[in-house]
Amino acid sequence: MSKYEFVPIDVLTKYSGLSEEEAKFWLGELDKKDLLYGQAESYSGYILNYNGYDLLALNALVKGDVLQSLGMPVGMGKEADVLEAMTPQEEKVAVKFHRLGRVSFRDTRRKRNFIGKRRHMSWLYQSRLAAEREYEALMKAYEADISVPRPISQNRHVVVMEFIEGHQLSEVSELDDPEAFLDEILTNVKKAYDAGVIHNDLSEFNLMASREGKIYLIDWPQYISRGDPNAQITLRKDMANILRFFQRKFKVSKNIDDVMTLFL
Ligand SMILES: Nc1ncnc2c1ncn2[C@@H]1O[C@H](COP(=O)(O)OP(=O)(O)O)[C@@H](O)[C@H]1O
Ligand SMILES: [Mg+2]
Repeated sequence: MSKYEFVPIDVLTKYSGLSEEEAKFWLGELDKKDLLYGQAESYSGYILNYNGYDLLALNALVKGDVLQSLGMPVGMGKEADVLEAMTPQEEKVAVKFHRLGRVSFRDTRRKRNFIGKRRHMSWLYQSRLAAEREYEALMKAYEADISVPRPISQNRHVVVMEFIEGHQLSEVSELDDPEAFLDEILTNVKKAYDAGVIHNDLSEFNLMASREGKIYLIDWPQYISRGDPNAQITLRKDMANILRFFQRKFKVSKNIDDVMTLFL
């Protein structure tokens, strides 16, 4: 799939080791189950779609004893779906499926730019890179004792992590001590910075408050490293988002310039 817009049937046949008849039959079966995306006009070929890619990742995670069963969706976003799941040890975990390039009108311009630079779209590949990056960020952050969901595994475009029982901060209407909460966020952003990572999409939508009142920083695929030339600007933007939210919702004021002195 990295070489073709649609992989020709004769190439698929060759790799499968099946006869042309058999290969065509099974491709037809996969197509019927909506696991492929086919092209029958100029020449015949197929690529995997997200259904097929999901099943390959889930198959690997089940065989690797990471997952046992899937549960309910907990967050269906623009660029990812998050479901609850169970491990063979009956630990409840969160399974995040990255879904870049999912059709949305808002994204058409970005998509066009993207296609312009490449021979063809490879959203599955982009989603795998996003999952790898997110897993990498979670590992770095978790090892540095930052409050993030514990990373458990990653396969293809899927990240498995600790399930946080709680709510997105955007949905929380009351906090016992919003000031202490904000300080807790700042402490974690500072710790992340010291460990070399900057979130780069921090907002009330990417913070979770657990039932025990602990804060978690989630959603890391776009993180940048401390050495990035945009590090300071990015940090400031992240912090400004958080301060704005606490000001608006909890009437807690903090000066952005004061906060930024943490990172000097
Ligand atoms: N580890 C987790 N435990 C519980 N819920 C989660 C977890 N990770 C994500 N979620 C839920 O799924 C939503 C979407 O996840 P997120 O990582 O922010 O992806 P995106 O914003 O790209 O869709 C979150 O806002 C949260 O409600
Ligand atoms: Mg998010």
